[in-house]
Amino acid sequence: MAITIRPFGIDSLGRRINCYTMENRHGYSVSIINYGASIQSIKVPDRCGKIEDVVLGFDTLEGYQNNTAYIGATIGRVCNRIDGASYDYEGKRYTLDANDGLNTLHGGREGFHGKFWIAQTTEGEGRDFVTMYLNSHAGEGGFPGSMRTQVVFSFGDDNRLEINYLATASEDTPVNLTNHSYFNLSGKGTIKDHVLSVDAPTFLDVNEENIPLGTVHTVENTVYDLRSPVLIEKAIKTGNHPTFKRQKGFDVSFRLSGKGLREVAMLHHPDSGRTIRVRTDQPALQVYSGQFLNEQGKGGAHHGAYAGIALETQHEPDALHQPSFRSIILKAGDTYHTQTCYAFSVE
Ligand code: GLA
Repeated sequence: MAITIRPFGIDSLGRRINCYTMENRHGYSVSIINYGASIQSIKVPDRCGKIEDVVLGFDTLEGYQNNTAYIGATIGRVCNRIDGASYDYEGKRYTLDANDGLNTLHGGREGFHGKFWIAQTTEGEGRDFVTMYLNSHAGEGGFPGSMRTQVVFSFGDDNRLEINYLATASEDTPVNLTNHSYFNLSGKGTIKDHVLSVDAPTFLDVNEENIPLGTVHTVENTVYDLRSPVLIEKAIKTGNHPTFKRQKGFDVSFRLSGKGLREVAMLHHPDSGRTIRVRTDQPALQVYSGQFLNEQGKGGAHHGAYAGIALETQHEPDALHQPSFRSIILKAGDTYHTQTCYAFSVE
């Protein structure tokens, strides 16, 4: 396969941002920029071969620099919310950036989504690789130890975008990495005419600040039961769970079935046939239906309410304060490695 590189802008320190595009032999392509290690576009055909860009994004670097919805970005050091912007570990209190009321959201003000990453490309037989490197300094955002992160995006003739997240740290630190792409398989309008399934028997309920209460609930008889495919518009119209009504849509952490790398969710657009299957080794999936989006996006498109849906694979949010959730501490010297795959098809 082949990777093309085009200039995307120069940041305030004079560093070059490029857009790296991996195109496969079916004409599908994935573009990544080294600002925020962000997915800038994913182009996929419909049943008639018509290609559309199926992720929200921006045409310019400025768009990404002013991106308040984390569109397309790699999220770290810790994605999702941390209650009270602090945590205790081995007798010490760590104070983090409060950038979402009193809480930390997506790594705080110094999150990975706003960083300059070093890129390396590798072209292969039937599969290309764009690897993004970031060194997060000790104390950045309040997190301990320096952390080296590698995000390997690879795309192949099998129409699969694989993302491998790797990290090592000089001190024990919490880590929870994800990607914050918003998908819209019609390439325009809203995702209300999409169908979604998520293989999760339970979800985490949250308070008014979207912090998990620590309680785990069955999806049965709620709008969160997506074990069979559900039309998103129907869920939005009829969902009457109090949290769902307050949030005006999905903004929920699902506890996924199974372990290891497995298929956990499917997003399908019946009109075009475009479909994404999400595979991951992670225990949770944050689904956000984009109800509060309000950004000026690619090609002059306005990304408004429900313009895209984020399917963020991760560990449970606020795990630092919930002893019953799996730990997100990476021990100094250990290697963090997680994998997520978005498989595209026309069905
Ligand atoms: C961020 C989060 C989403 C959602 C919105 C709410 O973008 O990533 O999950 O909570 O905030 O505005």
